[in-house]
Amino acid sequence: MRAEEMDEGLFGEQGEEGEVGDSHIPVMLFPAIDALLVTPGEWYVDGTFGHGGHSGEILARGGNVLAFDVDPAAVSRGKSTYEKEYPGRFLIVSENHRRVAEIANSHHIRPRGILIDSGWASSQMTDESLGMSFSSDTPLDMRMDPTLDSSALDLLETLGQDELVQIFSDLGEEPMAWLIARNMVEARSRGHLPRTGKELAAFVSAVYYRKGFRRSRKHPATRVFMALRIAVNREIESLTLGITEGRKVLPVGGRIVVISFHSREDRVVKHLFRDWKQSGCGQILFQRGVVPDQAEILANPRARSARMRAFSID
Ligand SMILES: C[S@@+](CC[C@H](N)C(=O)[O-])C[C@H]1O[C@@H](n2cnc3c(N)ncnc32)[C@H](O)[C@@H]1O
Repeated sequence: MRAEEMDEGLFGEQGEEGEVGDSHIPVMLFPAIDALLVTPGEWYVDGTFGHGGHSGEILARGGNVLAFDVDPAAVSRGKSTYEKEYPGRFLIVSENHRRVAEIANSHHIRPRGILIDSGWASSQMTDESLGMSFSSDTPLDMRMDPTLDSSALDLLETLGQDELVQIFSDLGEEPMAWLIARNMVEARSRGHLPRTGKELAAFVSAVYYRKGFRRSRKHPATRVFMALRIAVNREIESLTLGITEGRKVLPVGGRIVVISFHSREDRVVKHLFRDWKQSGCGQILFQRGVVPDQAEILANPRARSARMRAFSID
């Protein structure tokens, strides 16, 4: 799958990504939970609780769940639902899953599987206060975890041109990274920095327009938004640590299942699993990863950018 194909499900057509009000449709629910091989009575880590779709399926199959989320709203949802419905079988912590080994050990939990369904819940994408949408009038924040130091606007206000180029090209694979960053720094020096989702979307569109682009299948600001979101939330670092720390607490036969939504993230997972296999740690379960079938994509267009990979520990 090309990078563009993986990316476009994220922001390309905002508001058409499987959102139903405030809810979130879990992606590849059954393939992911099947890959975890849930044994009743054993513990599993849901590293990205969100709206609890995957946790709910693990619980329904008799597994116990230690859930993580950095978003306080997700943690409250978990506490008011599953923690009450499944006393002693469900525990949710307001933590980044990069701390999975430490937190599991502190609760004397030895999980048999770990699931990471990376990125954002649909409700976060449409949350006005996060400034994530192209039409948002609130300051560009983009922090899933409100305790993080820097918002997207902080990055735009303080980073140099080279650092902005690196974010846009490395994390967003934005072909106009250099031009957008240069225009951004110039606009900043004139006091015209884009400060809201709406302003940033218009700013990037104008750069494309001046270069002669008139129409595209997705919004021209898609990659810049994605890059900023990944940078603000240090998503690549968290994913890498969540997976590598997670492996430390898994027993032989334990499984790690990761669903990612863009090629940059998927590459991290693919390379980690390949390195583990080469060093004899276990087996890659699906060589090319698993993608959603047409029926799922029709029912939930956001799923079209997903790819699931899984590893079994020897
Ligand atoms: C795609 S949603 C998960 C959806 C969930 N599987 C479901 O079925 O509802 C991702 C969630 O993980 C959280 N999240 C993202 N990165 C995280 C991290 N490094 N540690 C903990 N939570 C994280 C986000 O706040 C969001 O709620």
